[in-house]
Amino acid sequence: LDNGVGRVPPMGFNTWNTFGCNIDENLLHQTADAMVSSGMRDLGYKYVVVDDCWFDPNRDSAGNLRANAQRFPSGMKALGDYLHARGLLFGIYQVPVDKTCAQYFNSYPGATGSRGHEYQDAATFASWGVDFLKYDWCSPTGTIDDQVRTFAIMRDALRATGRPIFYSINPNSIHEKTGPRRNWSDVANMWRTTEDITNTWNSGQTNGYPMGIQNIVDVTVPLSHYAAPGGFNDPDMLEVGNGGMNDTEMRSHFALWAMMASPLIAGNDVRSMSAATRTILTNPRLIAFNQDTLGLQARQVSFDGTRRVLAKPLANGDVAVALFNQGGSTTTISTTAAAVGRSGSSFTLVDAWTGGTSTTTGTISASVPAHGTAVYRLSGGGVQQPTATTLVSESSGRCL
Ligand code: DGJ
Repeated sequence: LDNGVGRVPPMGFNTWNTFGCNIDENLLHQTADAMVSSGMRDLGYKYVVVDDCWFDPNRDSAGNLRANAQRFPSGMKALGDYLHARGLLFGIYQVPVDKTCAQYFNSYPGATGSRGHEYQDAATFASWGVDFLKYDWCSPTGTIDDQVRTFAIMRDALRATGRPIFYSINPNSIHEKTGPRRNWSDVANMWRTTEDITNTWNSGQTNGYPMGIQNIVDVTVPLSHYAAPGGFNDPDMLEVGNGGMNDTEMRSHFALWAMMASPLIAGNDVRSMSAATRTILTNPRLIAFNQDTLGLQARQVSFDGTRRVLAKPLANGDVAVALFNQGGSTTTISTTAAAVGRSGSSFTLVDAWTGGTSTTTGTISASVPAHGTAVYRLSGGGVQQPTATTLVSESSGRCL
């Protein structure tokens, strides 16, 4: 979407994965402060997104949305001001249908969705200083054509405010199949590729609720051709630091999201994260891969059902290469510079985890533990057609 924002994937924090409906302005203030003091903001984590349950269950007499006065007694404009004063950006949640997911599934009262109020609500958000809208289709009804029409109304309403507002959509929130997949880059800056993530490595499904990390990768890798500056696949918010996985799996989760040009939206409690979690979320080499201005999602180079090799071309000619072991035991994974699109016989490799440097005549190879991912920046040589990029069938996964 060409709306002046989202030229690279967004980075930030969202309340939902850890806090669900238990949110208030103190939590948001403390989180914002922690994002500054932890160094996250300065590495690019700018958007602070208030997910479901921030609003009063009733619109005012003029039909305007308003804050839940118990949770946000200072109001949403004040929250936006608090974030902006700290160099952060303000994200908010709404739905294109009648009820938010909390209203639909979790008995939060009211029916305050934007259907029929799109231009009014967009103007309200702009007046509060909102920089990012998460727009979540939480209804068991609606054809793909309805979705396209409805999501486009809010796209146009946001544009009409004159404020650049990043537009994040989720066509996938109804906990059942939603029809054919589609490239949403004409409508939004990011679009969810699956049902909700959970802090599990493998939930055993690629087409339902909830999704594990491995399952989301299986679905989202084949959609790499949709991603470009202005619009990115969204495999959902990060579960790094939320338990449910070992350190190797958490590191793979972050590395793969970085490689997939996915939004890096922390979903943990950043006020109390461990040093290990902070080290993963603030890895500068992986963040650089993710935020590279070419805006490309890694292409699949090879996959034998266990060993998956991904390559992400970078703006300066380097290539980010990931060797991902989906299997249950340590294995050696190898590829070559030629396979990822570089000619020549002398290259430098920088290990994205350690920062350590090595040289190679072309082979890129590592012993990778179960569920682990080795990641390198390959420099040197010239451009050539990649010799081994696999064509990946979208039907191997599911999008919408
Ligand atoms: C479903 C979305 O997928 C989640 O990320 C979150 O926004 C919830 N809805 C909120 O109810």
